Amino acid sequence: MPQINQSLGEFIIENQNEFKYSSGELSRLINSIRLAAKMVNHKVNKAGLVDIVGQIGETNVQGEAQQKLDVYANDVFVNGLINRNIVCGIATEEEEDFLSIKGRQGRNENKYVVLIDPLDGSSNIDVNVSVGTIFSIYRRVTEVGKPVELQDFLQPGHKQVAAGYIVYGTSTIFVYTTGHGVNGFTLNPAIGTYYLSHPNMMFPEKGSIYSVNEGHYVHFPQGVKDYIKYCQKEEEDRPYTSRYIGSMVSDFHRNMIKGGIYFYSSTSSNPQGKLRLLYECNPLAFIAEQAGGKASDGFGRILDIQPTELHQRVPFFCGVKSMVDKAEEFMQRYD
Ligand code: AHG
Ligand code: MN
Ligand code: MN
Repeated sequence: MPQINQSLGEFIIENQNEFKYSSGELSRLINSIRLAAKMVNHKVNKAGLVDIVGQIGETNVQGEAQQKLDVYANDVFVNGLINRNIVCGIATEEEEDFLSIKGRQGRNENKYVVLIDPLDGSSNIDVNVSVGTIFSIYRRVTEVGKPVELQDFLQPGHKQVAAGYIVYGTSTIFVYTTGHGVNGFTLNPAIGTYYLSHPNMMFPEKGSIYSVNEGHYVHFPQGVKDYIKYCQKEEEDRPYTSRYIGSMVSDFHRNMIKGGIYFYSSTSSNPQGKLRLLYECNPLAFIAEQAGGKASDGFGRILDIQPTELHQRVPFFCGVKSMVDKAEEFMQRYD
């Protein structure tokens, strides 16, 4: 039973035995992500200050080239995981190819691979709007000790052993699951510790928020257009409220707490939509299901999709189960 004043560090250790093949490795891995997220949080929080405190132009006071925050976040997570020698492979939204981590003696005995969207919603950085990080963890399928292969990353989402996200918002929250429910930990910035603030997170049974970029309306498939009209119709508990941040992780977080659906479907120019299956959709789908919600591509379960490429995109409908059921119903009329 989670205690409300528990720190994330204590929680990870206490719940270690829940993991199927517990050796402490997954705990240490989640700990590394927790630490890297603190560094990114620190940087995100002073995003607007860098140009004032540093020098004008492309370099800061130390003469280092200033990086875009998504590149910085990528470096922090990737280097953090490599330096701690805690994973055998990493795939990130920011890099074309996956990385195989050699390990200290050139032979890597670690079992896990991490897939990460280091900064989700990066277009919001310049305007003080919430952004986040999303991560997904799998056991490798190829032999331990050998370099990782593409197939270690191309696993269906239901094989995830853990997934989580961090929202750098009005406060910073770390939410994750290892397949035993979803828990959220809020960072106390004064002492740099995350405390359990949202134990056993669950989607409400019903929701009244829909989150979609309606600017694409004319390019949506007919099923999506009809579903949007359904959300707006004056009937029963509708019209729903429209809320769209443009950082999926923040939209997802709000919808899980307040009750809503997020969707990013195909459009006439992007038949697979925009969102990435491995770095964005699978981890949020795993969390959604663990929290009693649902995630679909409009026709079937996200977590059952067999990926064929690293940066694969997929239409995504995610949130309160009854709302996703309804969206599917509209989509399937035109199958
Ligand atoms: P990223 O910043 O990692 O590229 O992801 C942005 C994603 C998602 O978080 C967001 O909901 C969506 O793209 C916004 O896209 P539109 O601007 O097309 O609505
Ligand atoms: Mn993203
Ligand atoms: Mn990103």
